[in-house]
Amino acid sequence: MAATELALFGGTPVLTEADHRTWPVVGDEERAAVMGVLDRGILSGGDAPEARAFEREMAARAGTKHALLTHSGTSALQVAVAAVGVEAGDEVIVPSYSFVATALAVMCQGGVPRFVDVHEDTGNLDPALLEGAITARTRAIMPVHVHGCPADMDEILAVAKRHDLPVIEDAAQAHLATYRGRPVGSLGVAAGFSLQSSKNLPAGEGGVLTTSDDALMERANQVRNFGQDIPLASRDAYDPRRPLDGSRPHVSLFPGHMFRGNEMMAAFARAQLAKLPERTRRSQENARRLSAALAELPGIRPPHVPGDRTSVYHKYRVHFDAAEAGLDLAPRALRDALVRALCAEGVNAVLWQDHALPEHPLVTKLEGFGRGWPFVAAGAPADLRASYAAHHFPRTRALLDSSIVLFSQTRPLIAQPPEVVDRYAEAFRKVWAARDRLVEVARAAG
Ligand SMILES: Cc1ncc(COP(=O)(O)O)c(C=O)c1O
Repeated sequence: MAATELALFGGTPVLTEADHRTWPVVGDEERAAVMGVLDRGILSGGDAPEARAFEREMAARAGTKHALLTHSGTSALQVAVAAVGVEAGDEVIVPSYSFVATALAVMCQGGVPRFVDVHEDTGNLDPALLEGAITARTRAIMPVHVHGCPADMDEILAVAKRHDLPVIEDAAQAHLATYRGRPVGSLGVAAGFSLQSSKNLPAGEGGVLTTSDDALMERANQVRNFGQDIPLASRDAYDPRRPLDGSRPHVSLFPGHMFRGNEMMAAFARAQLAKLPERTRRSQENARRLSAALAELPGIRPPHVPGDRTSVYHKYRVHFDAAEAGLDLAPRALRDALVRALCAEGVNAVLWQDHALPEHPLVTKLEGFGRGWPFVAAGAPADLRASYAAHHFPRTRALLDSSIVLFSQTRPLIAQPPEVVDRYAEAFRKVWAARDRLVEVARAAG
């Protein structure tokens, strides 16, 4: 059989699962770090030594005065939403393309998400649409640095300033990315990063909030600890013999959460953070290599990164244009056939998302946690319902229909050696050279 025959039709795959490196990579440093925690015997506590050390190191990387460890990226964002003062029924503007956690972090704090469409090429919030989404109830703006590429922060911050609104960065996917020379995490008033296993900075699960605002940090620390009256200043009085006992009674001032991290997570994350700059360079070099190869193919557009920022390529999204490629096929049909053909070649090709956030029943039903909460607190349900209509988000839909993500959560780009990246280019070239056959695949799938 010819080497050009697609694996989908019985040809030989270009690569196998076993050729890939899996993620996260657990080395001797991570093992020693976690064992050190177990040997020390202090496993928990917001002020415990690994958590504090990780926070200092993360703040240094993000260019902020403070960092606060939480148990997930979602909780880091929720703490930020609470700490900027979002109250029941307040609206927070978020992009229509993201992981659902962006909207959930708002809703779980009693706020209501209002969505703004994105640039089709980067997937990041389009600041030109922001003014139109601001209402009397808007309380914050939360752009996402999607796939590790920073959002248009200066334009977003300019609109926010005009309306006196805080900007929270959803930096869950963007550790060490930079915007006009500054690290993400330091661009808004606060940011939330994820440490979940697939992320460039993994710790199993976990999250971290960054900020340089002392008052916000004070409030965030309370939100993270049951809404208790624990002053930040008391952190230095930490007693290792009594990691969770305060030196005085704690009174809960408002409904907070128990969103602390733990010591194993923090120790693991510290070991990973030390390796992150080098790994980020590898991810960027991998992306450069793959993008150079894919850009040669008709109708294929590798990820776009504006020249004033760096992406860390947490996800690598490839766009295609069926007409430019000479194919008479609807984007979605081509997308699904392409994923099938690439997967058959041994490539990890995924959709990652197939819904715009405003399409999720989570919001469209306006039911929330029951009895319409938190939507009822915002009032004007008809206005909100109208704002979630699909016709407001054509570019999110176009992006989802006409692009795919190469690599996966367990086999991300950042983990791969150049040889694997080159096989991805080879597999893509092979499938694209036989793209007429994708029409057959798509038609057979109906
Ligand atoms: C854009 C975005 N925001 C928030 C999150 C939430 O992070 P976590 O899963 O750590 O809660 C994720 C995680 O996948 C994400 O991709």
